[in-house]
Amino acid sequence: MKVKKAVIPAAGLGTRFLPSTKAQPKEMLNIFDKPSIQYIVEEAVEAGIEDILIILGRNKKSIEDHFDKSYELEDKLKSKGKKELLEGVEKISNLGNIHYIRQKEPLGLGHAIYCAKAFVGNEPFAVMLGDDIVKSKKPCIKQLIEKYEEYNSTIIGVQEVEKSQVDKYGIVKGEKINERLYKVEDLVEKPKVKEAPSNIAILGRYVISPEIFPILQHTKPGAGNEIQLTDGLKELARRRNVYSYVFEGKRYDVGNKLGFLEATVEFALDDKELGSTFKKYLKNLIK
Ligand code: UTP
Repeated sequence: MKVKKAVIPAAGLGTRFLPSTKAQPKEMLNIFDKPSIQYIVEEAVEAGIEDILIILGRNKKSIEDHFDKSYELEDKLKSKGKKELLEGVEKISNLGNIHYIRQKEPLGLGHAIYCAKAFVGNEPFAVMLGDDIVKSKKPCIKQLIEKYEEYNSTIIGVQEVEKSQVDKYGIVKGEKINERLYKVEDLVEKPKVKEAPSNIAILGRYVISPEIFPILQHTKPGAGNEIQLTDGLKELARRRNVYSYVFEGKRYDVGNKLGFLEATVEFALDDKELGSTFKKYLKNLIK
């Protein structure tokens, strides 16, 4: 079955970026020249996703405004002949069909995904977390969609992380099928470094079968007293084949300050206009 829908949960509180996130969504923080959530929506659209549901919480209205048409601004840019800027602004409001729903309380990622049940219906769907931005030849979520279509089973996007970092992620225990694919035997959310079954970490991209919904409905709060998507997927893996796929690409963890800075600097260095000047500046700075 074709994957045409994506869910982007954005109802978290973003405590690691306080005070910036006191009145402003973490997803609207700028990475070089656009808000982080725009990278995610662009990845979905590039992968052929037709409908996107963004799960919002309190204080997240500016996300809706960002993807909405902006008549006054477009008029002004048009009358001033600022063609390039106008195209950039128009492009944002033409990025696929974006829908919104509210998660009334931040009870956890698993609960946020459960809020997408009516939108998803009985189809496989992509889940994309704004904390992970992936620079890759083929959009990361497209790589997973292709695997879903090949195996007709839930696919979890993973990469290896440093052993000392496993307590920050959902970790996979799996049987290796080939270089990139593992059949999931177990999943553990944020294990202690000594107890982790591997260093294969779940990194913010999934293609999930709708069979997850009846499971999430009954999933109890787990790590951090939140309803965890990882716990729901673990139960799904007991009932059906679930695979994890080591996607190609460089992933930036923009949910923490260091990863956010790395992405900002590297994306600026990649920029055609500013890149070389910025590189000179950095070289001088650290001399
Ligand atoms: P995080 O655990 O990173 O939480 O959520 P957070 O609130 O975004 O950030 P910190 O840790 O407090 O700084 C992982 C993803 O799940 C979403 C978040 O928006 C983020 O995309 N989420 C989490 C929800 O949508 N609802 C929740 O109840 C919890």
